[in-house]
Amino acid sequence: MANDVDTVVFEVKDRIAWVRFNRPDKRNAMSPTLNRAMMDVLDELEFRDDVGVLVLTGEGSAWTAGMDLKEYFRETEALGLKGTRKAQRESYGWWRRLRWYQKPTIAMVNGWCFGGGYGPLFACDLAFCADEAKFGLSEINWGILPGGGATKVAVELLPFRKAMYHAMLGEPIDGKTAADWGLVNESLPLADLEARVTSVAKVLLEKNPVALKATKDAVRRVGIMTYDEAEDYLVRAQEAANSYDNDGRKEGIRQFIDEKSYKPGLGAYDKSRRG
Ligand code: COA
Repeated sequence: MANDVDTVVFEVKDRIAWVRFNRPDKRNAMSPTLNRAMMDVLDELEFRDDVGVLVLTGEGSAWTAGMDLKEYFRETEALGLKGTRKAQRESYGWWRRLRWYQKPTIAMVNGWCFGGGYGPLFACDLAFCADEAKFGLSEINWGILPGGGATKVAVELLPFRKAMYHAMLGEPIDGKTAADWGLVNESLPLADLEARVTSVAKVLLEKNPVALKATKDAVRRVGIMTYDEAEDYLVRAQEAANSYDNDGRKEGIRQFIDEKSYKPGLGAYDKSRRG
């Protein structure tokens, strides 16, 4: 099924929602209009039964060239603080929504990824990019600091020296370097990117969805906790997950221990069956 909301388009195929930034002429720069459209699309897809994984990619040569310097900065600033704050709420809002999205998410970075683009990049659970892609904290090159969370993303994903260099020098890096530094999981030739992302999405589709949501939230949450806090959080998170799906893990144990039909160390149990 396809839907066109102009600056963002999406298509659902085989339980994968392919969502695209769709302003190729403007290198998919995030304007207020695009930010609102993206929130609408995320809303539309989040709880649909026919969607198991969301992939965020870009139309044309860019993933996203970051915030739209004209429409997001210049034109909203002209409206005063009220305009600036509204534009910030709209962009930060959908990135936050994506960080805690119900479904697993994959950034498929097909090309340029600059500045504000680091918000949705970090918001996606996994990220795969083209060798041909270019990543940069370009803010310093036009006279601001990497705001909108971009500095935080650099510090979360990169070692201190690399984060500092990346933010201060404003030099773009290619996909292979981004993978080497840890900004993305993997970099591969653009021609192979979609097939690789599809195969990763298919593996995710085999997993228990309640466990996936609990797992992705746990990975984001425990980073700032002490060991004891994390241990406690994880016990409670699993018990909360059990209230949504108390049979899945029991079936997982049954297929391994009683039926011996799979090995959890090597793959997922068959969730289509119930003992
Ligand atoms: N904001 C607003 N417009 C942007 C934009 C942005 N972030 N990035 C690209 N565009 C627009 C250009 O102004 C141009 O518009 P025009 O055709 O009306 O003149 C169009 O998109 C194409 O851009 P162009 O620079 O010609 O494309 P390119 O392929 O040669 O270069 C980039 C691509 C991404 C290297 C370059 O556009 C760029 O440096 N963009 C700014 C990146 C940035 O600093 N982002 C951080 C913002 S927080």
